[in-house]
Amino acid sequence: MKLDVIISADNIKEEYLEDKIVVVIDMLRATSVIITALANKAKEVFPILTVEEAFNKKEELLRDEKEVLLGGERKALKIEGFDFSNSPLEYTLEKVEGKTVILSTTNGTRAINLSLKAKEILIGAIINAKAVTEELKKLNKDVVFINAGTNGEFSMDDFICSGYMISLLCEKDNHELSDIAKTAKYIYENNTNLIDYIKDARHFSILKSLNLMKDLEYCCEKDIIDIVPKVEKSTKSIKYR
Ligand code: MLT
Repeated sequence: MKLDVIISADNIKEEYLEDKIVVVIDMLRATSVIITALANKAKEVFPILTVEEAFNKKEELLRDEKEVLLGGERKALKIEGFDFSNSPLEYTLEKVEGKTVILSTTNGTRAINLSLKAKEILIGAIINAKAVTEELKKLNKDVVFINAGTNGEFSMDDFICSGYMISLLCEKDNHELSDIAKTAKYIYENNTNLIDYIKDARHFSILKSLNLMKDLEYCCEKDIIDIVPKVEKSTKSIKYR
C-alpha cells in the first residue's frame, strides 16, 4: 500500500483523494467524540459545518421522528442551545444509546466534509488506532491520513496519531511511504509517550487552560475502542456497521 499524510484540512485537494481510502483524524477531539459516541451505541453521527445547518438538520431529523442530540464546539466551548460540548466523556452509553448525534466542530467536521471524494472514509483517533489499521489491512488499498489540523494549520497531535497508525501498519509489512508519512512514523516511534509529546501542541494548551485535562488523557489512551466508524457517502452520516 502507498501511505501518505495530509497535514491539515486546508491542504486537502479533493481530486487527490479519488479512489483512495482516507482516515480522517482530529484526535483532539472531534474524531475521538465520534468514535466514543458510536461505541456507546449512538445510531449515527452527522458531521455538520455550521451551527445554523446543525439546527436545520435537527428540525429535518425530528420530522422523521428521530431522537436527536446536538454536540460540538466553537473555540473549544459548548455552543448555545446544544446538548453536549465536544468532550468525548459526555457521550456516555446512558446519554447516546439509540440516538442520532449532530456534531459541528471547528476543524474535525470540516475535514470530514472535505474528504467525501475518497473511495472510503474511515474515522480514526488514538483511541481506535489499532482497529483502524486492522481495517486498512483488510481493504489493502492506498491510504491517505487526513489530519484535520487546527484552523487550517499543522497540528502535532493529529500528526503523531497518523504516525502511530503508520507504525502499526509497518510492524509486519512493507509499504510505500511518502516523505511525510515517513516523518510521521519517525516522530511517533521516537515519542511513544503521547502526552509527553502532545503537551507542547497549541491545541493541547488551549484545552488544558479550559481544565479539560481528563479529555486530553482520554484522547491519548491507545486502542481502548475497537470499532471503526465509516462515512456513508449517500447520506453523509457516520456509522459503525
Ligand atoms: C475541532 O474539530 O476543531 C476540535 O475537535 C476542537 C476541540 O477540541 O473541541
